[in-house]
Amino acid sequence: MSKKIIVLPGDGIGPEIMDEALKVLKTADAKFKLGLKYEEDCIGGSAIDKYGVPLANTTLDKCRAADAVLMGSVGGPKWDQLDSSIRPEKGLLKIRYEMELFANLRPAILYPQLAAASSLKPELVAGLDILIVRELTGGIYFGEPRGIRLLENGERQGYNTYVYAEHEIERIGRIGFEMARKRSKKICSVDKSNVLEATVLWREVLQSMAKDYPDVELTHMYVDNAAMQLVREPKQFDVIVTGNMFGDILSDIGAMLTGSIGMLPSASLDKNGKGLYEPVHGSAPDIAGKGIANPLATILSAAMMLRYTFGQGNVAEAIENAVGEVLDQGLRCADIMSEGAKQVNTTDMGDAVVAALS
Ligand code: IPM
Ligand code: MG
Repeated sequence: MSKKIIVLPGDGIGPEIMDEALKVLKTADAKFKLGLKYEEDCIGGSAIDKYGVPLANTTLDKCRAADAVLMGSVGGPKWDQLDSSIRPEKGLLKIRYEMELFANLRPAILYPQLAAASSLKPELVAGLDILIVRELTGGIYFGEPRGIRLLENGERQGYNTYVYAEHEIERIGRIGFEMARKRSKKICSVDKSNVLEATVLWREVLQSMAKDYPDVELTHMYVDNAAMQLVREPKQFDVIVTGNMFGDILSDIGAMLTGSIGMLPSASLDKNGKGLYEPVHGSAPDIAGKGIANPLATILSAAMMLRYTFGQGNVAEAIENAVGEVLDQGLRCADIMSEGAKQVNTTDMGDAVVAALS
């Protein structure tokens, strides 16, 4: 089996954190003989600078031909003034859409060592382990028609369309149920079916799928309530499955529950398990180039890649354990720093994970 990975460091802190993830992957490769191959290319602002667009078709072709894509982060003030059609974020949306990466897995796991970093009381978040399954290639993000139009009265009107076809709901629902089956057999589907017809259908399709999963308990929640429940009593959730926009918002809440968005990895998968792996956090232009960004989310994204695309769950676990060990040693980057811990920079953190792994 070929194991070609396209590496897209992107913008801001992307290149710094990617260096550390590659270090860890190379160490894992040497130890577990994985035979990984890498090729680097650009996405986002760096691609705008090099190719004039946030995702060149040549890059997309390479990603399609490879087995997995490992990405850093995109965006930054340098490209903020560009027309919205070529902004860095469009590169990310295009790669998700074109590669049909409809299943976005966003775990929100609180490392016990970091319980104090959460803005919630430690007893509310201790042991937190939620998986948000977000639909990633449909819904209001991609629905047509969309745009800004001129009304007859001369006023402009912005509009978007919230659409979901049954097959789109079903395929993401299936991922949710399968994940729930491997975990605590509980899944909560989040919608706004008291207002939006698109999510009335969402709820119906989920309900009709439940009969295929008699061992999994399906519940439903409106998105406003889900946002409230996530900060009120987050441990009531295990797997959450939801549409693109609600998942975007709820996964930021999930991230913050764990204290640091700098810790959270994600996977975006197609129907064959091929995927793009990226940290949940953004490009953090304010700290880019300072060597202080936390590389752990990218390192953990590389671990997810080994688990989901390359079927190397044991190697993924070894990397995750190495991250736990480093936290046990009291090492922290600035974003997760707490009293009594030892603050380290980006490369020290990567080196410590490498040492713990080898
Ligand atoms: C995310 C981000 C993206 C999204 C942006 C950068 C387009 O917020 O991955 O959550 O909205 O999906
Ligand atoms: Mg987001």
